[in-house]
Amino acid sequence: MNIPARQPAPLTDAPDAHEPPRTTATSIALLGLGPMGSALGHALLRDGHDVTVWNRTAARTAPLQAEGAVAATSVADAITASPVTLICLRDSAAVEDLLGRHPDAIRGRAIINLSSSTPDEARRIGQHVTANGGAYLDGAVMVPTPLVGHDDALVIFSGDRTVLDQYRPQLASLAGRLDWLGDDPGLAAVHDLGMLDLYLTGMAGFLHAAALVQAEGVRLDQFLPYAIAITDVLRDTLAPLADEVGARHYPGDEDTTEMELRVAEHILGASGAKGVGLAVPRLVHDLLADAIASGYGASGFASIYEQFAAPTPTP
Ligand SMILES: NC(=O)c1ccc[n+]([C@@H]2O[C@H](COP(=O)([O-])OP(=O)(O)OC[C@H]3O[C@@H](n4cnc5c(N)ncnc54)[C@H](OP(=O)(O)O)[C@@H]3O)[C@@H](O)[C@H]2O)c1
Repeated sequence: MNIPARQPAPLTDAPDAHEPPRTTATSIALLGLGPMGSALGHALLRDGHDVTVWNRTAARTAPLQAEGAVAATSVADAITASPVTLICLRDSAAVEDLLGRHPDAIRGRAIINLSSSTPDEARRIGQHVTANGGAYLDGAVMVPTPLVGHDDALVIFSGDRTVLDQYRPQLASLAGRLDWLGDDPGLAAVHDLGMLDLYLTGMAGFLHAAALVQAEGVRLDQFLPYAIAITDVLRDTLAPLADEVGARHYPGDEDTTEMELRVAEHILGASGAKGVGLAVPRLVHDLLADAIASGYGASGFASIYEQFAAPTPTP
């Protein structure tokens, strides 16, 4: 990616830019003050950065203003107040709408977008920013809001590496670990979605299990240590699963889909007997049944991967 201007353009070079209220070495603008955007703002202010904030619903700026943030009255004013702008909105549609309406403000600025997106959306936003003379770094916050700003928090990035390097003083306030994944702006999004795919599915599994054990009269605090124990097993299972997927070979010498189908039937049966919803175990049951129907009965659980894998791209 070739960005002509790495430094913020002098304001005289940006005809539509508004006069910035202040620009310091560690100033930063922040667009979007939902729970995550606000957490990012608190972490930046805690470390003494000059933070300019903007939010569609203006009242949400008040808590950060009380801590020293300056509220901009427009998106363009916010972006031009600082060499770098963090964006944390609900989705890409909101980001594209915002940036699409303010192309002139982008010129000579670095835009770091921490809003959830698909890889293609991230690439499209990156193209818009660079086409308008800005530098683009995409990213995702991989911890919940209470952990923002902690040493063990993780934020992943992809896109223009120079943005990460140049604004590390500000970004280091957000997380102890800042991982850059490559030049392609879509890489952070695909890692984010991959991690959240696993996280959401795992949470759904836990909540179904919680309903099942409670329906059988087991208190959740009794069950919780056992739920945590099985997540330890799950963690240790990921690398062997990845090996089998990498080889597209699922030996079944430690477990088979036939065996696991019985387990899935037991979960369905026990749940059904107590009126517990069946959607989560039904999905796993059906994946196993389809694997067996496709000839993977003597194969390991990883063989259900064959139902997910996208067709190999033709060169
Ligand atoms: N919360 C978390 O634990 C967490 C963790 C990791 C990543 N994230 C990501 O962080 C991003 C923000 O999440 P969030 O938790 O702060 O809450 P959110 O509800 O996803 O986003 C709220 C923010 O988006 C703004 N917004 C929504 N639609 C808009 C539009 N069309 N134009 C302008 N602004 C718009 C809201 O403005 P108003 O105040 O005016 O409604 C508010 O500032 C999301 O992409 C989310 O996936 C969140």
